[in-house]
Amino acid sequence: MVVAIDGPAASGKSSTAQWVAERLGYLHIDSGSLYRALTAAALRGNAPPEDWSPERLLRDAPRVTLGAEKHAFHALIDGQRVEEEIRGGDVTANVSLVAKMQAVRSWVNASVREAARWHDVVVDGRDMGTAVFPDAPLKVFLVADPWERARRRLVQRLGRRPTDDEVAAETDVLVQRDAKDAMQTLQAADAVLLDTTYLTQEEQVERIVALAHAVSHRASST
Ligand code: C5P
Repeated sequence: MVVAIDGPAASGKSSTAQWVAERLGYLHIDSGSLYRALTAAALRGNAPPEDWSPERLLRDAPRVTLGAEKHAFHALIDGQRVEEEIRGGDVTANVSLVAKMQAVRSWVNASVREAARWHDVVVDGRDMGTAVFPDAPLKVFLVADPWERARRRLVQRLGRRPTDDEVAAETDVLVQRDAKDAMQTLQAADAVLLDTTYLTQEEQVERIVALAHAVSHRASST
C-alpha cells in the first residue's frame, strides 16, 4: 500500500505523513529529505553551487541512503543522521536548484521506490502521486494559504507567536520557493485535494486515515 501526499513547501506534508504512517502502522518516506541530503553533501565539498552539475552531485549519491527506524525512513549521509544540517538555511536556499536536475530526480525516485518495495508506506513530496507512484491507491494533495503556512512554520521554528512583519517576510520566502518548485509540484488528476488552512493537524491526520481505511475497504471488497 502506498499513500502519496504531495503539496507545496510548508503545507504540513511531512509532519502529517509521519502521523498518518504511525496511525496506519506504515513507514514514512520524506522524499524532500533525499534532495536535501544530496544538497548538504554537495555543500560539504568545495565547489560553489554555480558549478554543480548533475554528474558532480551524483558522485555523492552513494553516500546518501535511507535508514529505517520505527515508523520512518531517515536520510543519512555516510550512515549518520543529519536532520539539523538538512533543515538549515544553506540547504533550503540551494535545494530547489538541485531538485531541478532530471538525473537527480531519477536517482531520488529510484531510492524512494526501492524503500517502498518491502513496506507499506506514506510518502510525501511534490510528485509522489504523479511521477513516482502514479498507481498509488490513495493520493492526497495538501494546500494551505501561504500566510497560514508561513505562520505555522514560524511557530514551529520560534516556539512563540510571530509578529505580522515576521509572517509577511516568511510568506515572501515561501512564495519564492513555491515559484522555484512550481514545475515539480503536481497534483494528480485522481488526488484528493485537502485545504488545511482551517484544519488542525489532528483533523488533517484523521481525514487521511479515514480515506486510507475507505480505500483498503474498497480494495478488499472487490
Ligand atoms: O519537502 P521539502 O520542502 O523538504 O523539500 C525540499 C525541496 O526538495 C523542495 O523545495 C523541492 O525543491 C524538492 N523536492 C522536489 N520533489 C519532491 C520533494 C522535494 O522537487 N518530491
